[in-house]
Amino acid sequence: MLRNTGSSRDGGWDFRGAQTQTFTHGLHPYPARMVPSIARKLILRYSSHGDLVYDPFCGSGTSLVEGTLAGRRVLGVDLNPFAVLLSKAKTTPLHPERLCEEWRSLKKILLRPTAGMRAQRSPRIQGQFLDFGFWYKPYVVRDLAFILSQLDDRYPTAGASLGDFFRIAFARTAREVSNQRLKEVKRWRRSAVDLFTYRPTPVPRFVQNVERELPGMRDYYAATGGRVDRQVLLNDARTYRPRGRVSLAITSPPYGDSGSRGSVSRDAAPVLEELRAAGLRPTIPSRCRMLRSPALPDDQIARLRAETGLNINIRVGLASGPGTARGIGTEKVS
Ligand SMILES: C[S@@+](CC[C@H](N)C(=O)[O-])C[C@H]1O[C@@H](n2cnc3c(N)ncnc32)[C@H](O)[C@@H]1O
Repeated sequence: MLRNTGSSRDGGWDFRGAQTQTFTHGLHPYPARMVPSIARKLILRYSSHGDLVYDPFCGSGTSLVEGTLAGRRVLGVDLNPFAVLLSKAKTTPLHPERLCEEWRSLKKILLRPTAGMRAQRSPRIQGQFLDFGFWYKPYVVRDLAFILSQLDDRYPTAGASLGDFFRIAFARTAREVSNQRLKEVKRWRRSAVDLFTYRPTPVPRFVQNVERELPGMRDYYAATGGRVDRQVLLNDARTYRPRGRVSLAITSPPYGDSGSRGSVSRDAAPVLEELRAAGLRPTIPSRCRMLRSPALPDDQIARLRAETGLNINIRVGLASGPGTARGIGTEKVS
């Protein structure tokens, strides 16, 4: 069971400097990720062991990870298939020994492929994407195809837990070794000058990505005892209705940035409103790029209320640690 200590200064809602990559939280970046300490604090405060915690816009599953760590049953919904895969991978405790054993044998093949395997490094994935050559160097495509073919051979069924874990590391690798600029949510290609000397190394990068996450998964397994009660569904929160009694809804709705603010952002409001009407206590730690200061000005609070459709009472603003997300914590107390 987690304790809510050391995550916020003065027991308040300022989580600057809080760790954001513990357990499985660092498995893969995701835009507008919630700060885990915010989710943890709200879950511990507003729900009890065994309660069902629902996140209708679960994204990368931050609240689901925290919920399972706190011994809650969790239900997450998202209409992005990658978010669903990622949330599942992050909330599936993998036995450390089994994972390490599996990884050792996979790594051996990846680092020392036989001649036959080398010959097989055909870019099977080429042609599935438009402009593939624009985003990847040819040798990178070949190496990625090789890694993927090994994963497909070993884990042919989607949803196999070990396979999902490695596929997420693969997804991260594929982005990191592409021609796109990193640390930007939108896709921009590197400059021609930059590309000239750019020599990414897919296999070592994949190895690095897997090995960085092994300790986090080991900790997650230990903290959950290898048992979680979680459901992650590919669905539209506007029409999906959870079965069973939801004790706490916690989410960061799809605000979008200035470029993507649109119907999806507006459509989050009815979902949240409905949860409120159902007598829940929605708690909405959310990312909002403009909110960088711990204290929120009144006009921003008003704007947040309008956007979420909730009569929220914001006690203190929050800012996240490293990464793209900056967050605020809000609590509905009325
Ligand atoms: C701000 S992100 C959530 C981030 C998440 N809290 C985390 O820590 O990773 C909002 C999510 O809402 C999802 N989304 C947008 N509209 C949706 C809808 N109608 N139903 C379900 N999910 C939706 C997006 O795919 C996105 O993953």
